[in-house]
Amino acid sequence: MLEDWTMNRSELARVANAMVAKNKGILAADESTGTIKKRFDAIKLESTEEHRRLYRELLFTAPGGAEWISGVILYDETIRQKTKDGTPFPEYLTKRGMLPGIKVDTGAKPFAGFAGETITEGLDGLRERLGEYRNLGARFAKWRAVIDIGDGIPTPYAIQANAHALARYAALCQEADIVPIVEPEVLMDGAHSIERCEQVTDAVLARVFGELFEHRVYLEGMVLKPNMVISGKKAANRAPPEAVAAATVRCLKRHVPPAVPGIAFLSGGQSPTEATQHLSLINKLGPLPWSLTFSYGRALQDTALKAWGGAAANFGSAQQEFAKRAKLNGLATTGRYSQEMESQAA
Ligand code: 13P
Repeated sequence: MLEDWTMNRSELARVANAMVAKNKGILAADESTGTIKKRFDAIKLESTEEHRRLYRELLFTAPGGAEWISGVILYDETIRQKTKDGTPFPEYLTKRGMLPGIKVDTGAKPFAGFAGETITEGLDGLRERLGEYRNLGARFAKWRAVIDIGDGIPTPYAIQANAHALARYAALCQEADIVPIVEPEVLMDGAHSIERCEQVTDAVLARVFGELFEHRVYLEGMVLKPNMVISGKKAANRAPPEAVAAATVRCLKRHVPPAVPGIAFLSGGQSPTEATQHLSLINKLGPLPWSLTFSYGRALQDTALKAWGGAAANFGSAQQEFAKRAKLNGLATTGRYSQEMESQAA
């Protein structure tokens, strides 16, 4: 007999659909304390708790941003922080029509016995943490598995172990009435070709959907967050944008059931304009069975972070930069972005 799920399936599907609503996408603002320090180092800003709070407030309160942002992925520290006038961030986001989400994995750690590969940790105690995050306002969660391409890697076993962890996480989320973002990221850090990226992404997505099925995950109540199929950053002849769009769509069609409401890409080190252009070209290849949108971190934040530089005087112009990227990516979800829009005022 099939397990009698206690979860509210229609609510999970409603939230998943809202996350990938047309013209909108997700802001990944869930950098761990270590990662945000690296971002602040680049603008020579000390990573104090107040600076981290202020920077997140800059993003969340940006005028015009909410029109294009369906949800925000928060970090454990951020979900407990407040705007300067004392409103908890999850409550503030909800009031502006943005769903609060939470990163729940505890990072990719060396996979014992498999040099150069990682396994994402965070399953221990996850049921209890999800319960707490739900009470703090989280309606969706994120777990990122990391697959690197290199000499002799990835191995099938590392792919399997990461896919299994993703499925266990996704089932626990749904039990807690939280929509899981399932993120298997094939890194673009190497010198590999787009063909190699497609081969590895094929293997990863096949395994991930196999494990999700085995774990009885409700596909209508989840969002997939994959990499695009793209050449490695250090590759000599990087495939052009049209080839990235075509390979990405081809690969997704092979593996992602139409029951999944939406696919929200990570940017993974693409430049902000590259990430927007690719998303727009992908959406021009429709109609496709799922909504295709963004869940960008760096590609949404980089220009705003630079414009801010930690200076109070730049707060407003940094917000404009963020709202501009949010808008251009929002337009890309329906293939309406063009590069001429980049030169228009923020
Ligand atoms: P990037 O868009 O910077 O890759 O970040 C997205 C994300 O959430 C990675 O887990």
